[in-house]
Amino acid sequence: MPPRKIIIDTDPGQDDAVAILLALASPEDLEVLGITAVAGNVPLPLTEKNARIVCELAGKPDTKVFAGCDAPIARKLVTAEHVHGKTGLDGPSLPDPTMPLQDQHAVDFIIDTLRTEPAGTVTLCPLGPLTNIAVALQRAPDIANRIQEIVLMGGAYFEVGNITPAAEFNIYVDPEAAKIVFACGAPITIMPLDVTHKALVTEPRNNAFRALGTPVGVAVAQMTDFFERFDKEKYGSAGAPLHDPCVTAYLIRPDLFTGRHINVEIETGSDLTLGMTVADWWGVTDRPANATFMGDIDSDGFFALLTERLARL
Ligand code: BDR
Ligand code: CA
Repeated sequence: MPPRKIIIDTDPGQDDAVAILLALASPEDLEVLGITAVAGNVPLPLTEKNARIVCELAGKPDTKVFAGCDAPIARKLVTAEHVHGKTGLDGPSLPDPTMPLQDQHAVDFIIDTLRTEPAGTVTLCPLGPLTNIAVALQRAPDIANRIQEIVLMGGAYFEVGNITPAAEFNIYVDPEAAKIVFACGAPITIMPLDVTHKALVTEPRNNAFRALGTPVGVAVAQMTDFFERFDKEKYGSAGAPLHDPCVTAYLIRPDLFTGRHINVEIETGSDLTLGMTVADWWGVTDRPANATFMGDIDSDGFFALLTERLARL
């Protein structure tokens, strides 16, 4: 089977960085057509720069990186420096990138790619707020039925929220965008907090990254060291949740994940529960299923895959 063509839409972020590294380390499974940056964890000038830093760390400076939307569709940007540090990639000390940013706007790249590649052959992998994807769908509704699948990190049901008591960060930052994406009709697979909070970088798992002894292994260990202090304090958990790599791992090893094909709607009207993913896990409504909502992960298998692939870079 030829590798699956993907566009990674991202707001790096240490966990975004690991997701990108996993994809770039897996050319037999994934062909990264481009990386599109969006404002999220930190503002756009930092996310597009961080995406290029990560490509260079991976030894893949020919990867195309595009800058996209610098603010949500209808709201002021909310960022997460309290989790990711002021650069968004705090932890390792990595050089400024020398590879260029592409001239084209990320939204135009997404639209052009979906129109140019054969229908049903390009998968979108959003790892941040859904602004770029929603704006592309708004501007070019014809692309919706050309998308092979949207595999995204966002939302929560049993874990409820991380940025508010009711909402997960990526969906909360741009709920209007999420609403557009969830209604677009393309096949959608979601990695919610319910899954990602089980993908914890425990000490032995982090030691395994560091023991790779490569610049990538050491940088990933330093990123998760930094990122972990927040979750340990907040949740008392055993380590940092590697949210976004669940998306790229799923594309390589879908058998590591289980979930349900259900209806998922986005709350945009309530101040109290803004950005909540109302997931009909128990099938108590007759609203039609629009997404596969993952609920569990084989976390040992996930970390074995990650360590094996990162060792290649
Ligand atoms: C999501 O929010 C960001 O902080 C992470 O990069 C991840 O995409 C988790 O809620
Ligand atoms: Ca992210």
